[in-house]
Amino acid sequence: MPPTPRMNKIPDSVLASVVDLATDAIICADQQYLVTVFNEGAVRIFGYQASEMLGQPLSKLLPQRFRARHDHHLRDFASGRVASRRMGDRAEVFGVRKNGEEFPADASISRVESPVGIVFSVVLRDVSEQRRAEGMVRTLLAEAEAAIRARDDMLGLVSHDLRNPVNAVKMLAGAIIRMQRAGEPVPHAVAEHAGVMLQASTQMDALIQDLLDVTLLESGKMRLVAQATNAERAIRTAVGTLAPLAAGSAVKLTVSVDAGVPEFEADPDRLVQLLSNLVGNAVKFSPPGSEVRIEAARVDDEVHFAVKDKGIGISAEELPRAFDRYWQSKRTNRSGAGLGLAIARGIVQAHGGKIRIESTSGRGTTVFFTLPLAASEPPDEG
Ligand SMILES: Nc1ncnc2c1ncn2[C@@H]1O[C@H](COP(=O)(O)OP(=O)(O)OP(=O)(O)O)[C@@H](O)[C@H]1O
Ligand SMILES: [Mg+2]
Repeated sequence: MPPTPRMNKIPDSVLASVVDLATDAIICADQQYLVTVFNEGAVRIFGYQASEMLGQPLSKLLPQRFRARHDHHLRDFASGRVASRRMGDRAEVFGVRKNGEEFPADASISRVESPVGIVFSVVLRDVSEQRRAEGMVRTLLAEAEAAIRARDDMLGLVSHDLRNPVNAVKMLAGAIIRMQRAGEPVPHAVAEHAGVMLQASTQMDALIQDLLDVTLLESGKMRLVAQATNAERAIRTAVGTLAPLAAGSAVKLTVSVDAGVPEFEADPDRLVQLLSNLVGNAVKFSPPGSEVRIEAARVDDEVHFAVKDKGIGISAEELPRAFDRYWQSKRTNRSGAGLGLAIARGIVQAHGGKIRIESTSGRGTTVFFTLPLAASEPPDEG
């Protein structure tokens, strides 16, 4: 057997000063619940001098309304088998200072059998500051949540009401262009202005649609119209819309769909929207002459998609923010609203799929997402 280390007994005077100097209140009481020890910490917390409290009932340190219950608990504790316990396991503990002020406390009590009978000892800490800080954090959080809700409601409302007038501008600009094409006498400058109006109002309409989608996703109200969906057709549709943009910056769009991808259950319009957002980004952040590849393959019960570019990439520090609403890298030209990826993620999750992004600064970016072959309930998102 290894020898037991010899430990010197700590002198009582040292123990007494350890007790005295503790920042917590350390209070002892005898069998009659009369105070026998009241350390410096207790003096600071309760505002009584030790001489004022010695011999006084312990319950004097509790608010009046708790005294009867406390005496009852103490008697239970004195006769019970448990030698120590945390006070307030069932409800919060409060103390009362000499000036009558109440405060919340963390306290534990122990019962020690000694030659002079039972000694109760209470260790107590004033937690008013902590509770105040917790309360402040709760209030701030609630206020921030309310502000976000108010902003989203407002956004939803404003964008909804903006749609009709914007569509009116879009329609009328389109009508002027069609009149000119039909050979009607429309001055050249008017037709040219109508073209700019059409382009601007189309952009505005797309932005409003994105804002509405984001509010829908946020409130979990995005509804999918699931039906048999062909992955290749969805990809070709998205690529078709983006072809002019890609041609403008000489970016080559390549599509590769595995033969084994079956028709699957999804919302085809949302899938096109999602692919358009990803391919749009890939084109927007790629240098002229580079390639953007869109791939799809079946893996078990899922379709795996990937949109790959060799563009400017996203730095490792910025990557975790990429899916945040309104987030845009400071390094990129900030056309757009920073909503495309947030919406893309929302659409994938609404289908019960997963999305992730891999990127190397200066090298390129790939966004991977999976959609289940059979539409399923989306998992609960925290
Ligand atoms: N393929 C990519 N390559 C490099 N950076 C990207 C790529 N995709 C997204 N990003 C970065 O992430 C940001 C957010 O993308 P997101 O699609 O959400 O918004 P956006 O394209 O800026 O605007 P919106 O899509 O609303 O028109 C972009 O501004 C860009 O900084
Ligand atoms: Mg985008």
